[in-house]
Amino acid sequence: MWKFKNPIKHTIPATRWPTAAEAAQSLLYQPIEIGAIEVKSRTWVPAMVPWRATEEGFVTQENLDWYRRFAKGRPGVLVVEATGVRDIPSGPLLRIGHDRFIPGLRKLVEAVKDASEGQTKLFIQIIDFLSVKRRPEREKFFARFLELDDRHKRRLALALNDNQWLTADDSIVRNELANAADELLDRVLDARELESLRFGYREHVTDLQLPHIRELPQVLPNIFTDAARRAREAGFDGVELHYAHAYTMAGFLSALNDRDDGYGGSREQRIRLPLEVYRAVRKTVGDDYVVGVRFLGDEVIAGGNRVDDASYFGVEFARAGFDFLSISKGGKFEDAQQPKVGQAVYPYTGQSGYECMPTVLSDATGPFGRSVPLVAAIKRAVNQAGFSTPIVATGGIGTFEQAESILQKGQADIIGLARQALADPDWFVKVKLGRGDEVRRCTYTNYCEALDQAHRAVTCKLWDRVDLNERGIATVDEGRRRLLAPEWNK
Ligand SMILES: Cc1cc2nc3c(=O)[nH]c(=O)nc-3n(C[C@H](O)[C@H](O)[C@H](O)COP(=O)(O)O)c2cc1C
Ligand code: SF4
Repeated sequence: MWKFKNPIKHTIPATRWPTAAEAAQSLLYQPIEIGAIEVKSRTWVPAMVPWRATEEGFVTQENLDWYRRFAKGRPGVLVVEATGVRDIPSGPLLRIGHDRFIPGLRKLVEAVKDASEGQTKLFIQIIDFLSVKRRPEREKFFARFLELDDRHKRRLALALNDNQWLTADDSIVRNELANAADELLDRVLDARELESLRFGYREHVTDLQLPHIRELPQVLPNIFTDAARRAREAGFDGVELHYAHAYTMAGFLSALNDRDDGYGGSREQRIRLPLEVYRAVRKTVGDDYVVGVRFLGDEVIAGGNRVDDASYFGVEFARAGFDFLSISKGGKFEDAQQPKVGQAVYPYTGQSGYECMPTVLSDATGPFGRSVPLVAAIKRAVNQAGFSTPIVATGGIGTFEQAESILQKGQADIIGLARQALADPDWFVKVKLGRGDEVRRCTYTNYCEALDQAHRAVTCKLWDRVDLNERGIATVDEGRRRLLAPEWNK
């Protein structure tokens, strides 16, 4: 995990929880309209991948239990984890790329409706991502993956000041490069080849030489549309189009997207495909169905989008008719740490990853509500343009005081709690009942995120070893971790 140079260790803020009467009066617990539906409170659990689907992407009993557990806490909205829109293998991540996934997803909807007694609205985040390969062994890279050509020979001859490399046998050149020092490789390989060698091969939205990447603008609207149609058929109250972090649609929005086919370059062209996908989805699901978007307030990478780009996108998304805008930050591949050989690069290990899920080891600003200024700026721009699309703020928000103050100041319309809801899914009901002092408070140290990074079942360190002997509970790691937060004995 990326760290600040001289980090300051923050403690979670002392807080006063509201009485039930105060909670009832608060903005946080007032209903809000999102598109055509009314949500009971302005609370929100953003998408979190728990690594509980089958290898084929189907909903498991563990998924049902996981979402049921969140629903018992009755947040206003619960967003189901990033769910793949394509019908391609992608490991134990949920998928919605074919009608065969609908029955499992329908069960998930029923579990949430049942556990929240209809109090929680359920959206599903739908995602497209490009191919990311594991970091290769050096020998294998030079023997098999590098597409050797005359450019390499010319650069090698120049770097070594020896023209016999111009006509050298490929096998000899490959061998030389496999044993070369980093400085020499820096001069002989291009930036993408170095990335493939050091981080693993990864597709970019700008790889126009690859037909399937060139065709993304032609194929993605239909793929997202079919996924959204399935979400509606399965009974979800809405879909959240995942335009954030390290994935395809965020790649189109990114300031690094310099596609020259009308889908890159200027902001207007970078947002073109995201808007075309939205319009296609909207046309199919209709005006009475919630379609929202998650995107970045700041990419936190060199040359990436800043808040002025995000404000522009926010206004255009609102103008197009999105029903909500959920703001995240960072989480990119571009600044990720180098993975070990045999592992894939993980987009939450650089500074942009820190900003996505900030911890208490921070700078002077600290992790709490760290993204609020970004969200507030986007909201200002959207409102000034004449739109009132609800905007969700997330990132280090764990207390009622913090949440209520953000709403009172008009910095956001809805408050997202991801890790705090994982630490205590009953946060929403406890605070509402005036029993906030019983909240199990997240310490923002990212044990859960490390599990996510290792593709292991996500749990919280505050509860996964509690009452391991409890009868009938599901566990992992040979009984060493429980999979669900203990029940709250009211
Ligand atoms: C284990 C884990 C999985 C996550 N998975 C997703 C995801 O599928 N989609 C997404 O947009 N964000 C994902 N996030 C990011 C969260 O939604 C949220 O933006 C982030 O944790 C910051 O909010 P917080 O400070 O309230 O935790 C994930 C976070 C965690 C900790
Ligand atoms: S493991 Fe639990 S306490 Fe730690 S950051 Fe994650 S949710 Fe918070």
